[in-house]
Amino acid sequence: MATTSMMTMPTLKTASSSLRRGSSRRGIFKACCSLENPRVEGHALSLVDQFDPRIAIEEAVTPPSSWYTHPSFYDLELRRVFYRGWQLVGCILWFLDPRVFFPGRLGNVEFVVCRDENGKLHAFHNVCRHHASILAYGSGKKSCFVCPYHGWTYGLDGPLLKATRMTGIRNFNVNEFGLVPIHVATWGPFVLLNMEQEVDGDVDAVADEWLSSCSEVLSNNGVDTSLSYICRREYTIGCNWKVFCDNYLDGGYHVPYAHKGLANGLKLDSYSTTIFEKVSIQKCEGGSVEGKNDYDRLGSTALYAFVYPNFMINRYGPWMDTNLVLPLGPKKCKVVFDYFLEPSLKDDKDFIERSLQDSERVQMEDVILCEGVQRGLESPAYSVGRYAPNVENAMHHFHCLLHSGLTK
Ligand code: FES
Ligand SMILES: [Fe+2]
Repeated sequence: MATTSMMTMPTLKTASSSLRRGSSRRGIFKACCSLENPRVEGHALSLVDQFDPRIAIEEAVTPPSSWYTHPSFYDLELRRVFYRGWQLVGCILWFLDPRVFFPGRLGNVEFVVCRDENGKLHAFHNVCRHHASILAYGSGKKSCFVCPYHGWTYGLDGPLLKATRMTGIRNFNVNEFGLVPIHVATWGPFVLLNMEQEVDGDVDAVADEWLSSCSEVLSNNGVDTSLSYICRREYTIGCNWKVFCDNYLDGGYHVPYAHKGLANGLKLDSYSTTIFEKVSIQKCEGGSVEGKNDYDRLGSTALYAFVYPNFMINRYGPWMDTNLVLPLGPKKCKVVFDYFLEPSLKDDKDFIERSLQDSERVQMEDVILCEGVQRGLESPAYSVGRYAPNVENAMHHFHCLLHSGLTK
């Protein structure tokens, strides 16, 4: 896959041929999924059914607090939501050069994405086949992966190149001990992984599954590879990952109460929400802020796209920031913000600094809200809530998608 072609418009490309290398993928992945315990799963499924997606939003109650607190429900989510389908893991701008690598973690899955010497993008489980050490730490460039434990060495395209001090071993076929591959694809500026064994890697199938019919809407609204990457900020929050998503999906309901500074820059009565298959898009017009005419972070229209299950794309003024909500346990998550900016402003340090400070303030306000909600969800006084039908439809849609994903 040529680097130049990945930097054009948001077409989707897959790099799944690495899955054909070696025959060991199936065995390893099955072992990973054998954590399923029918009794625990049965309990989790009984919790899933406490929310009924057939009930209209006007009459519906929200999912029960156990969805946000119970370990068995969390395990079910990992297996049925995060280990299935295409999941966002990073930005293609980090993978422009041969030999770059970037590790990450989703649930219990440690992965590493890299570009090999020939420019081909790969993803692997970031686990050494000898005694399970994490293989790649940090990020940067490498010509191969050398395990920090006993030195087993793997090529960037996956094979085991060197197994140290193995003299005398029997029944050991080096070709069966390559890194375990993961399906990888790209859309626009984003890199996606799919942990499933059987994946339809067809370009259109990947786009359909991840963005459904709204991929054009996003690319027409400036979600593309023309932006410059600015920086990353990470926030570990004491709440279930869905609390952060719910907060994002309330149609601006909380903005005038919890983000007074942000509310000054938005025309909240222009707020609109459009629901697509697995995506919802909230839009709001920017308002002029008195005394701030020389500083326009939000621009004329802000677009907030939520891509099920855990990715948000915020496009406003010259900025795009993305929020990836990573589950870290039933009551803990990490939100990763990546900031992108129109290239003409990428050297304007004052503008960038000021914008990042404003964004940070909004985020800290949301952290307090989300941690407060988590504490409330754990209180015996609360079991279910209700939706504000005219504003919280994206949230209701998210809960219906979750119900569907968890019962398949
Ligand atoms: S665990 Fe990697 S070489 Fe031993
Ligand atoms: Fe907020």
